[in-house]
Amino acid sequence: MRLLILGASGYVGSYLFKAFQKTELNVTGTTHSSPVQDLIKIDFKNITDVINLFDTTEFDVIINTIGHPSPDYCESYPDEAYGGNFTSIFNLISALKNKSNKPFLINLSTIYVYKDESQTNNESSLPCPINTYGYTKLLAELFISRYYEKSISIRLPMILGNPEHPNDFLMTLCKQLQKDEDLELDNSELRYPIDINDLYKVIMKIITTQPKGILNLANNSNGLTRYQMGVIIKENMRNSRGTLKDTGTYPDPQKWLRVALRPRDLKMISCRKDIADISFRTFRQMIEIKYRYYFERSYGQTFK
Ligand SMILES: NC(=O)c1ccc[n+]([C@@H]2O[C@H](COP(=O)([O-])OP(=O)(O)OC[C@H]3O[C@@H](n4cnc5c(N)ncnc54)[C@H](OP(=O)(O)O)[C@@H]3O)[C@@H](O)[C@H]2O)c1
Repeated sequence: MRLLILGASGYVGSYLFKAFQKTELNVTGTTHSSPVQDLIKIDFKNITDVINLFDTTEFDVIINTIGHPSPDYCESYPDEAYGGNFTSIFNLISALKNKSNKPFLINLSTIYVYKDESQTNNESSLPCPINTYGYTKLLAELFISRYYEKSISIRLPMILGNPEHPNDFLMTLCKQLQKDEDLELDNSELRYPIDINDLYKVIMKIITTQPKGILNLANNSNGLTRYQMGVIIKENMRNSRGTLKDTGTYPDPQKWLRVALRPRDLKMISCRKDIADISFRTFRQMIEIKYRYYFERSYGQTFK
């Protein structure tokens, strides 16, 4: 089976690319601005290049991870957000829709399509994004569901667990906690992170069964603020010299360079137990198993 991973240079895409390379699938990946060996360099905002890609090669399954996932970046540069999150999908569907052998599309979306914090959102809950990031991702989802039936969009919470990627939040935190410095972290927004390997397992299942529509991927663990994540990491470190500072109230937007509105505590569940019924790794397990291993490999015996 021929698998194409769009955005294989990114945080999620690079993990999936490496993981699928270890399987029997024939895997191809794309990059945009980052020069990465073995990946096809392509700008998905350019319709001609996208059509050429699919004219020359056939694929059975496509995983789309292209996009701009930072809410603040999207709010500050709405044209870029629209281009990366929506135009890329518009061009992809335009290039695929007349093909006789249509590949199955797995599109990565976000929990930020929801607004309602008073209930736990399931796949039938009304989406209503409160920032440009959520809005452009919802637009992409709607376009896919309207014009490309062989597809599923997965709404995701915060994804952690790719310590080899330079943008990994937890490895950055581990490194900062080694230094004798104060580290201020938000203690007001609850997040429900999942390990990227759990996403990989679910995608494996989806490739086999090809279910369509929308899937909420969320574990049932307790929510954690970034400050609480820092506390758990610090508890596990042997010689952590850094001091964590709880920002207490909602951070001053200017100080934190935060421009996008964000929900404080947004919860999702899935009604599609046939696909998403896996035993999710907890945040503590991720730290104690995965990050311990990677951090010690890079920096020596720093975990307890
Ligand atoms: N990370 C999370 O916690 C999280 C949570 C929920 C949902 N998601 C969703 O998951 C997806 C992946 O997130 P991520 O964190 O992996 O993002 P990321 O690290 O920023 O990766 C985005 C990928 O898209 C590529 N890209 C951007 N613009 C492009 C363009 N015009 N043409 C072709 N490729 C382009 C980037 O290529 P270059 O790097 O080479 O420029 C990169 O490979 C996003 O759609 C996001 O909405 C992520």
